[in-house]
Amino acid sequence: MNRVHIKTYGCQMNERDSEAVAAMLRTRGYSIVDDEAEADVVLLNTCSVRDQAEQKAIGKASHLNRRKKRNPNFLVGVMGCMAQNRGSDLLDRLPDLDLLVGTQKFHAVPDHLDNLISSLQGQGPRPSTLVDLEAEEGSQNTIRDHAPGERQVSAFVSIMQGCNMKCSYCIVPKTRGPERGRPIDDIVAEIEQLAANGTKEVTLLGQIVNQYGIREFPFVDGKSPFVQLLERVNAIEGIERIRFTSPHPSGFKQDLIDCYGRLEKLCEYIHFPLQSGSDKLLKAMRRPYTVEKFRRILDAMRARCPDLWVSTDVIVGYPGETEEDFDMTCEVFEQIGFDMAFIFKYSVRPDTTAEALGDPIPAEVKDARNKLLLDKLQARSLARNQSLVGQTLEVLVEGPARRGENRFTGRTRGYRKVVFDGNERLVGQLVPVTIREATVTTLDGELVLSGVDADVAAL
Ligand code: 5AD
Ligand code: SF4
Repeated sequence: MNRVHIKTYGCQMNERDSEAVAAMLRTRGYSIVDDEAEADVVLLNTCSVRDQAEQKAIGKASHLNRRKKRNPNFLVGVMGCMAQNRGSDLLDRLPDLDLLVGTQKFHAVPDHLDNLISSLQGQGPRPSTLVDLEAEEGSQNTIRDHAPGERQVSAFVSIMQGCNMKCSYCIVPKTRGPERGRPIDDIVAEIEQLAANGTKEVTLLGQIVNQYGIREFPFVDGKSPFVQLLERVNAIEGIERIRFTSPHPSGFKQDLIDCYGRLEKLCEYIHFPLQSGSDKLLKAMRRPYTVEKFRRILDAMRARCPDLWVSTDVIVGYPGETEEDFDMTCEVFEQIGFDMAFIFKYSVRPDTTAEALGDPIPAEVKDARNKLLLDKLQARSLARNQSLVGQTLEVLVEGPARRGENRFTGRTRGYRKVVFDGNERLVGQLVPVTIREATVTTLDGELVLSGVDADVAAL
């Protein structure tokens, strides 16, 4: 009864929460299995940002529940945003669910599983669904465990929970609650421990990282708590690269812009959500900035860091988005030149301010706008990737590639994926790779042996 499989939907925050739950379960004696078919317990860590993500998880959970007919000891749990959003109502759709855990209760999962398993092993009737969806003070401090004794070359670190913005379309403030930051010392201690286990790269995670600690911790020498955190992480021995996601254009001040080029470990990459290229729509979405302000921030970053790689989020088909509004988004897309982007078709979410506007833009229009932007994005990504052909770049080797013997994969500082012929001993190393070919998503390269530690390179 102790093999657990965790399936994660949605963002990197969810990935990190699942990883922390897995670490806590391992410490409690459970084993985490990759193959769902081998598991005694399946936990779904869910996403509510779009309806489609919820439907997928509901479909999966009902499918899993059918397995109980064959194996009455099999347990299914739903955790995270959808559990929080839908609450006990979810049980109308999924009455056989064993466990429902909200976004502030991930750390309670081991206790809940222990309890469920011991009541299954007792004589009584099958226990009813265990529901734990309360808010909990300090829950932001509970996502800190990493798999014991396992090296993660690149690790996610959750620095805060929740969001105080009121973007009209977004369900996250409802599912994740108000902004709460972890103490800097705790985050630094976690990253020092990761570094001691061989981690080379950390990605600091939060809904709006540049707002980190803004209410809890003071500014020092004009530097926000987030910039203070970046400085502390930059000083950690063994950590070679720092990334963060996601920042918000509001409150993205000079102190953060100045980090580019000043903190040598901060990578030349930023995920910077635009959402729309029309000021009218930004206002309707309650995004408190203009396209001009967005552009000014990026220009200032690029002035300090000419080699910056930029990705973004855009929503198409928000209620009231006219052809002209969409054209403006296309224009801004071309002018700014995003290297990567996540383009989302608008999805009405319950209890958001935009809910009352309904979903007036037809699905075909959303599809067409989505495709147009994707085409633009692909053309730009390909051109920028191809500009790297012939260059030798620093690559952090993450592990074997999915396909191909002796093929390994890693990322550049600009977050481009590189595949090359390598060797297991390179994993976790920063190595020079000369780029030979480029597609929209991947670079194909060749290891430069003279640049690699001789011992490691002895292929
Ligand atoms: N519909 C479509 N996309 C959404 N996002 C957030 N809420 C919605 C919604 N209701 C997108 C935003 C955000 C990303 C994580 O998801 O672009 O930046
Ligand atoms: Fe949602 Fe806006 Fe908060 Fe991002 S900043 S999580 S889009 S409410």
